[in-house]
Amino acid sequence: MTKLGVNIDHVATLRQARRTFEPDPVMAASLAVLGGADIITVHLREDRRHIQDRDVRLLRETVCTKLNLEMSTAPEIVDIALKTKPEQVTLVPEKRQEITTEGGLDVVSQKKTIMDAVRKFQDAGILVSLFIDAERDQIEAARDVGTQYIELHTGNYANAKDDISKGNMIEKLQEGIKSAHKAGLRVNAGHGLTYQNVGLIVQSLDIEELHIGHSIVSRAVFTGIQNAVSEMKELIIKHLITK
Ligand code: PXP
Repeated sequence: MTKLGVNIDHVATLRQARRTFEPDPVMAASLAVLGGADIITVHLREDRRHIQDRDVRLLRETVCTKLNLEMSTAPEIVDIALKTKPEQVTLVPEKRQEITTEGGLDVVSQKKTIMDAVRKFQDAGILVSLFIDAERDQIEAARDVGTQYIELHTGNYANAKDDISKGNMIEKLQEGIKSAHKAGLRVNAGHGLTYQNVGLIVQSLDIEELHIGHSIVSRAVFTGIQNAVSEMKELIIKHLITK
């Protein structure tokens, strides 16, 4: 059964537009769980552009499913994560100028830093996932640093303009999953997934957790977050059943 991870960063983006108290991502998380979210994800960025330290603290106290903290390997953020003890951390690359995470982590060139972080988290009983592109060398490096999960970047699939390019991206993800399973890694996926494009992913790929944010929060503006999450959850289940 593919699980649904809901990324609520953009609830905080709206709050931070006025630096006020609403809308509260902590309330969004509770409603997302009521709508069927299996996992709540937030990205505590070094520049604190959306999620704040207070959100992470309160989410740790209130999320009763799985809390997944997206983060860079900056020492300050690693310390916060070790103190907060989410069930899982997902290590991502982070650049100040980017609008959102733009590509997978380059594990090959940062093996030592990533391996040190993976060890610290695993010693603290926290699961680790590495957000990477479906490239064989990155998958092998992910295995070498000892992570349990990888999250395959689906952005190129989401941005593909026609069916042929989409098909090519699906094939690349399928090959990535095969290599990852051979390497003993568990596989999640996410980025750029929407109500329109999630079906082909569910139908074609063997994924444990799908991590979806922007599309769900966008729909929530009109329908409420509980409804938006349950619609996505039903869509995933429908595609799993007809697989
Ligand atoms: N997975 C990771 C690692 C991400 O960085 C993001 C974006 O924060 C997502 C999934 C969700 O992407 P989207 O907001 O495009 O659904």
